[in-house]
Amino acid sequence: MFFRERPVYKRQRETLYRLNETFFMLVLGIETSCDDTGVGIVDETRTIRANVVASQLQQHKPYGGVVPEIAARAHLDVIDAVLEEALAKAGLSLKDLDAVAATTGPGLIGGVMVGSMVGKALAAVQKRPFLAINHLEAHALMARLTHDVAFPYLLLLLSGGHCQLLLVRGIGNYRLLGRTIDDAVGECFDKVAKMLGLGYPGGPLVERAASQGNPRAFALPRPMLGRDGCDFSFSGLKTAVRTQLHGRTLTPPLVSDMAASLQEAIADTIDDRTRHALDQIRKENQGITALVASGGAASNACLRARLESLALEKGVPFAAPPPSLCTDNGVMVAWAGLERFRRGESDGFDVAARPRWPLEEKRTA
Ligand code: KG4
Ligand code: ZN
Repeated sequence: MFFRERPVYKRQRETLYRLNETFFMLVLGIETSCDDTGVGIVDETRTIRANVVASQLQQHKPYGGVVPEIAARAHLDVIDAVLEEALAKAGLSLKDLDAVAATTGPGLIGGVMVGSMVGKALAAVQKRPFLAINHLEAHALMARLTHDVAFPYLLLLLSGGHCQLLLVRGIGNYRLLGRTIDDAVGECFDKVAKMLGLGYPGGPLVERAASQGNPRAFALPRPMLGRDGCDFSFSGLKTAVRTQLHGRTLTPPLVSDMAASLQEAIADTIDDRTRHALDQIRKENQGITALVASGGAASNACLRARLESLALEKGVPFAAPPPSLCTDNGVMVAWAGLERFRRGESDGFDVAARPRWPLEEKRTA
């Protein structure tokens, strides 16, 4: 790949990053919307130059979930060190960057403010464009870096706060096909993990426990199975787990069996809803290049395997970023920033941090 001149790209060639006499656009991304402080650096050849994530796991563990005030302080405490480490790993300095991106929503507002203020400050000091990134869009575009997926594709977004099926037609062009009407899938894993005494973070702990269990040990409901449309529901599943656990002692075999049964019920539901979305797309004669899964819960091996075989059955390629890029990280923010920047976009420093920001909402900036 070679550097292509673009109207937006006003910097002098001499100051661009140099590699084998070729010039590549470099973007740094900052992610602080939940409990991970992430800084990533990517270039336009889809190469990850740095990916540093500081987890706040230990700070939140005693509370069994993310405490917003603790999260915001923890981001503030480590952001400088994470930034320095990312630059050192990439062998770059701030002046080498062509743009700075940061998550400006949706998420826990204190953390989002920390990351977006740092991003704006870096961009202002270095006189570089700033890109305000929607966290969901960052998850949505990640597979374009890891698998070079072309538009349009069907996206299954499975994170701690969101569970959606979207037709990704282009950058900023999202059609919502279905979403959860109550809990998100990650939330369901997290809440059941708490009931099972597995602690926090729930998803990976349920997955580990499930590997020792029998997925047919407990008869759990499959919410929305066979229903029209592509919406999800997980709160009934969570309630069913609570009811079935009532009065029972949490022995390791019981915990493993329930974890496996829950994972299987979630996989069945997700398979059914995604199947509906694929069928709907086919009926509408809407061609897609791939089925893409992204977001923290898309790092679950059982869910990935089910989606992969569904895609195979439907004759659609399947793509999911590696688990470390499904969970929150700065690389996805940097990549979404790069995708927007190379289209000639940038945002003002007056962009506000947003706790809520639906992906399908049109951007006015
Ligand atoms: O995308 P993410 O890192 O943060 C948000 O944007 O919310 O997703 C976090 C969610 C948590 O609910 C976590 O339990 C879930 O993803 N998760 C998993 C796994 N790893 C993370 N769920 C199931 N299995 C996993 N291996
Ligand atoms: Zn996320």
